[in-house]
Amino acid sequence: MNLRFDDRSITVAVVGCGGFIGSHLLQAILCRTQWRVFGVDLDFYRIQDKLNDERCEFLCGDLADVAVVERIAQFPVVVNLAAICTPSRYMAESATVIRSNYDHPAALADACAKSGSWLVHFSTSEVYGRTAADSGLLEEDSTPVTFGPVTASRWSYATAKLLTERYIAGLSGLRWTVVRPFNFVGPYMDFMPGVDGEGIPRVLANFSSALVRGEALKLVNGGKARRCFTSVFDAIDFIFALFQVAGSAGDEAPALGEVPAVYSQAFNVGNPDNELTIAELAQKMREIYAEIRGVGVESLPAPVAVSGEEYYGEGYDDSLRRLPSVAKAERLLGFRAKTPIDVCLRDSLSWFAEHYA
Ligand code: UGA
Repeated sequence: MNLRFDDRSITVAVVGCGGFIGSHLLQAILCRTQWRVFGVDLDFYRIQDKLNDERCEFLCGDLADVAVVERIAQFPVVVNLAAICTPSRYMAESATVIRSNYDHPAALADACAKSGSWLVHFSTSEVYGRTAADSGLLEEDSTPVTFGPVTASRWSYATAKLLTERYIAGLSGLRWTVVRPFNFVGPYMDFMPGVDGEGIPRVLANFSSALVRGEALKLVNGGKARRCFTSVFDAIDFIFALFQVAGSAGDEAPALGEVPAVYSQAFNVGNPDNELTIAELAQKMREIYAEIRGVGVESLPAPVAVSGEEYYGEGYDDSLRRLPSVAKAERLLGFRAKTPIDVCLRDSLSWFAEHYA
């Protein structure tokens, strides 16, 4: 597929262009290529400075609208980042979460299969399910999956995402790539509760909000769960690695027995070197914030433990460890996330403190 970065005739559709990842992707496409962007979202506050860019066309709409889906699928490359992906919503709004994460992307996949677009679909590291504290490296093509019971409604999101992956993989004629993000962090992540969003954002934004407000960080079930925090800038480099490899591949179907490098593949995108327990994350963030503010860390409130159900509501459950194998992306795309944890946290937290000051 022709994806030369200097080709002005290429337009990429970015669904969710106004979101956390989408806003960074838009910025990178405009800086690193000569392409045009067809951006779709319902909220454009993160990309105000791009709204009049002559290389961009924006549509305010979502994938629930068939006409929007048809329009998006006219473009040769479609990156779908749209999703409800805030755990605090998975329990109380599970039906909406499932529609957003299965019905809508499945409709987009159908349209892309018909039009011949390459669909780069953002899934989630939660498709590995209710991983235990001693689970090892999660591998795209071999790790088995266990979810909690139906009463643990937290898994509404993960099961919908997994079903979408399977639907995409089973759809005849679709050229697809699935991306499984492992806790991307960076500027513009989520929201500050009560300021530009309601409910509980993901942990980094939630801890940042509490620090800015001088409140105690809440450690769900003692903060024993572990995550590998990954810079959103590494995530954008991954997408460009995909573009590059897809651009250098021909359009013909691979020969029998040949594994395509980019198409019909799911990729973990995460940084296994950046693993922390949530309690360790809280401590690191307190130290960084104290440094930013020029105060002693002991002057910040100590973290407090809360139970998951008490904090998020009935049906909350958790993955205790999510350690990505990154061998496949290294082998097929030559990509490995490189931003160390301290840099990730400092980038995110200093942006947050300044933005919401
Ligand atoms: C979420 C989404 O469900 C995934 O789709 C997404 O891929 C993932 O974030 C991500 O960012 O990649 P999760 O990692 O559970 O999954 O999201 P967080 O809300 O950031 O929670 C991480 C851990 O911190 C959990 O153990 C949670 O219980 C804990 N937590 C969260 C706290 O201890 N305190 C808080 O204030 C918030």
